[in-house]
Amino acid sequence: MTKDNFKIFDTPQQTAEAFGDYLMKQSEAKTSFHVALSGGSTPKILFDYLSENYTESELWKTIHFYWGDERCVAPTDDQSNYKMTKERLFDKVPVPADNVHRVLGENDPEGEAVRYGQEVQSNLPGNVPVFDMIILGMGEDGHTASIFPHQMELLKNPGVCAVAEHPESGQKRVTLTGPVINAAKEVVFLVTGEGKQPKINEIYHQQRDWKSYPAAHINPVGRLVWYVDAKAVEGVL
Ligand code: 6PG
Repeated sequence: MTKDNFKIFDTPQQTAEAFGDYLMKQSEAKTSFHVALSGGSTPKILFDYLSENYTESELWKTIHFYWGDERCVAPTDDQSNYKMTKERLFDKVPVPADNVHRVLGENDPEGEAVRYGQEVQSNLPGNVPVFDMIILGMGEDGHTASIFPHQMELLKNPGVCAVAEHPESGQKRVTLTGPVINAAKEVVFLVTGEGKQPKINEIYHQQRDWKSYPAAHINPVGRLVWYVDAKAVEGVL
């Protein structure tokens, strides 16, 4: 990873807006554009920006939405990544219902990981399904999607999806596995805030415990870009 992998902005708002414009631009090139979303704080800013600035875009017919990870809760639960996206985006722009590929968080986790993997596989090319873009966050512990440091084996899991577990709450999650994330045409980390700086610093400089952070093992076949604010990379690059 080099400086060229980073796009740096002054604030989380500017970071999310710049990425939002980039996402919509990338989707113009395709008749269908398959993107996996992330949960977390910066995507909330992204979805608000898209719903306000691309309200009537024709591109909503092109983009198919999936999730890189989802909590095993009902779609009406405040913990649901789908609920957050629905409230901030899908309820405000004309995304066809068939373009939203929701993880059925209300289902049995193991069964849903299989089902969702089959849905992804049936919509995307490749023995290992290839997304046009996967958007990822990174936790302060270096986790990404729902691959946490205590479950590094998910980085090599042969399935499309797997059941993960939050290290503190024990909450079950369905997550894309490392091989699917790394098969993507493009992976974009959307990471902001000073709390992320230590892990980005260790990963970028391959120092200290960098190998124990799942985010350090995301090296896609395609393009890797980090959309970050200045605080997240202060003193790093
Ligand atoms: C989730 C996300 C998760 C998130 C990171 C960063 O379901 O919570 O997919 O991986 O991206 O925890 O979250 P913040 O951006 O809120 O720090």
